[in-house]
Amino acid sequence: MAMGYADFGGGPRMAAEHAEHGRELSTLTGPAERRPDVVVRLVARKERFEIAGRGSVEGYTLNHTSPGPEIRARQGDLVEVTLVNESVRDGMTLHWHGVDVPAAEDGVAGVTQDAVMPGRSFVYRFVVRDAGTYWYHSHQQSHEQVRNGLWGPLVVTSAKSGRDVLAAVHTYDKIRTVNGGYGERRTEVAPGSVVRVRLINTDNGPMASWVDGAPYQVVAVDGTDVNQPSLVTGKSVLVTAGGRVDLLLTVPSDGTAVRIGLGGGPTTLVVGPHGGAAPASRSAPADRVDLLSYGKPAPIGFDPAHANRRFEYRIGRRLGLYNGKPGLWWTINGHQYPDVPMFVVAQGDVVRMTVRNTSGQVHPMHLHGHHVVVLSRNGVAATGSPWRVDSLNVEDGETYEIAFLADNPGIWMDHCHNLPHAAQGLVTHLMYE
Ligand code: C2O
Ligand code: CU
Repeated sequence: MAMGYADFGGGPRMAAEHAEHGRELSTLTGPAERRPDVVVRLVARKERFEIAGRGSVEGYTLNHTSPGPEIRARQGDLVEVTLVNESVRDGMTLHWHGVDVPAAEDGVAGVTQDAVMPGRSFVYRFVVRDAGTYWYHSHQQSHEQVRNGLWGPLVVTSAKSGRDVLAAVHTYDKIRTVNGGYGERRTEVAPGSVVRVRLINTDNGPMASWVDGAPYQVVAVDGTDVNQPSLVTGKSVLVTAGGRVDLLLTVPSDGTAVRIGLGGGPTTLVVGPHGGAAPASRSAPADRVDLLSYGKPAPIGFDPAHANRRFEYRIGRRLGLYNGKPGLWWTINGHQYPDVPMFVVAQGDVVRMTVRNTSGQVHPMHLHGHHVVVLSRNGVAATGSPWRVDSLNVEDGETYEIAFLADNPGIWMDHCHNLPHAAQGLVTHLMYE
């Protein structure tokens, strides 16, 4: 296996010998005897594609579109996705961002599989245990491949999810889009409908989002329900890069529509009846929902006060060489990937981490295969609903205390989801002993 065929330029190379045997490897971990409930075939190509309202751009597609097709499953379904790489030259994979799949299905080139080269295919099989809003994307040369189109939404519903509307945001070549379109996009629903807006931020930076025309509740964050969310008016909520937030609202019964603000630019989503007038577009309300104190406390299922492992990592910067290039590079405890020691845990451990950012910029830290609970920010303890995330927006100067249960054996990436930052060394791993 060549060094270059690993995301972020190198790393642990498990399973390199399985490069030619994708099917055998993946069926070892999925329930092979069970018939899949959802079967998807995604063909990846390098080609031009259309951005509705804006013309065409050069990039990558899945089944001739970007975003790729929405994958929709019900909680408990076995999902089988066949990835066929027709013409993505550097090879590619698919990673199920936010879905806590078995490690062998995680789709990280150079860690859990080799990149799928042009002319080859790979079959992913996994059970979706938790309902929620997720997305998928390539995890090979991610900073380039995700930006240029190799991604799509993934929604897992349960009996109580209700009617939903997708708002998957992505910036292609400085053009911010929602659901693949630029400018004011509309989704038609009947007056009086209760809808769950599934916000997905696939960009490299945080996005403020809000609703004009109706109050809303933040009902889920990163695929986990918020306990007893209160009604919000005139405030925005931050969607971390890579993160998802579900908003619940009732469309007015008087025939008007609501507008979903997406960062304050020209691209917004109007939800309501055909032709229904919506409030004017505006910039993001400065007042923000603080998830640290939003909703009501509930049990989290483990006791962070009795942690078996404690780690501390500090995100910093240093001037020097990285991959032979001089510059100001990101560090974790003074090191850069692949020279950052892994965090080693054992199955069943309660793990606590302190994440401190003194680097001068915001970093959306994403841990694969797990959801972490936020315990405190800058020493202020969480008082709201358990705030569970897989992608955490850590601003410069902030310190978060987080905890999680080590319940998913494997080697897992923990990296900045500002993907160019990951390519600049802001990557570490969690490994089970
Ligand atoms: Cu969404 Cu490691 O990635
Ligand atoms: Cu970063």
